[in-house]
Amino acid sequence: METKIITVDNDVDSTESYQQAVDMLESGEVVAFPTETVYGLGANAKDEAAVAKIYEAKGRPSDNPLIIHIGRKEEVADYALDVSQDAEKLMDAFWPGPLTLVFKQVPGQIAANAIPGMTSVGLRMPDHPVALRLLQQARLPVAAPSANRSGKPSPTEAMHVYNDLTGRIPLIVDGGQTGVGLESTVLDMTTTPPTILRPGGVTKEMIERVIGAVHTTTSVEAEETPRAPGMKYAHYAPEAPLYTIEANLETIEAAIAQLHKEQLTVAVVGPTQFQTEQADWYFSIGSADQLDELAMNLYKALRLCDTTEADIILATETTIDGVGEAFMNRLWKAADGKRFVVDK
Ligand code: TXA
Ligand code: MG
Repeated sequence: METKIITVDNDVDSTESYQQAVDMLESGEVVAFPTETVYGLGANAKDEAAVAKIYEAKGRPSDNPLIIHIGRKEEVADYALDVSQDAEKLMDAFWPGPLTLVFKQVPGQIAANAIPGMTSVGLRMPDHPVALRLLQQARLPVAAPSANRSGKPSPTEAMHVYNDLTGRIPLIVDGGQTGVGLESTVLDMTTTPPTILRPGGVTKEMIERVIGAVHTTTSVEAEETPRAPGMKYAHYAPEAPLYTIEANLETIEAAIAQLHKEQLTVAVVGPTQFQTEQADWYFSIGSADQLDELAMNLYKALRLCDTTEADIILATETTIDGVGEAFMNRLWKAADGKRFVVDK
């Protein structure tokens, strides 16, 4: 299969480009498109055969429910039951935006393989002009996980999608780099109080300002439903082993010195402030005090590590406040919990 890339931006009349993507979705094909969080790999959520193509292209186990993307708030009523006042408030405050709300499902509306074995459904209205226009034009619910091969960091640029899925999908809509850079917050509205299943761009503090206290899952993220033991190692992960490390220049340089002594080459992912000549590769992801910027550039940097010969990757830690919670959640996964501590 040949993978076509179409670029849409405000300078060109892109009506025809959108129509191509809409035609693909309507005819049961998968299409990769940008959202404000990461690129998604979308298919008509009502079409079981189309949804099956998502799992196949990604190489993803099909036991994990997909988020259903909609282009209008009014569509919530087509798929969700028991939409509370709090849910309405959250939609008013954060939609379109990086917040997925999990509701009790209207049975029979969404293809069974998009929400395997679930009585709930996760809905999200993305805040990206390309995604919104596609969804509004297609008038279809679109099931869309991140458009990466399973186990790889989520794509934040069309080229990441291309590198992972070329030959496996027919179309990528290129809308430039995504803004948030981490996947949406997933909030389960079927519990009282609601439960954050996955932290993201809409932070716990932001949600609590609108509806009061919410829970956070203490178990591993929903996405990590226990699978074969080996599976959990392959999450958001670059090829070389990744360790988180304290965000402190002295610690970083001591770690590099120790690893060099062991004849290991080192790539570092961190803020501009710690850019050190000692690292064999240093990927700066923004200013240490700009969490949004760090989040936006994290996955790209993890992917860049795969273009190096690094034996080991060190990635600096942030606070777990605000967007830091989502940032560190993804980093711990990429590291599979490993933290680098310098030998005394
Ligand atoms: O930002 C995002 O959410 C991106 C873009 C493309 O929209 N999508 C995304 O999808 O990250 P995916 O499939 O990689 O992650 C979906 C997450 C998983 O953790 C899944 O378990 C959870 O959402 N989820 C989806 N439906 C659910 C449901 N009904 N109940 C509980 N969790 C659900
Ligand atoms: Mg994903």
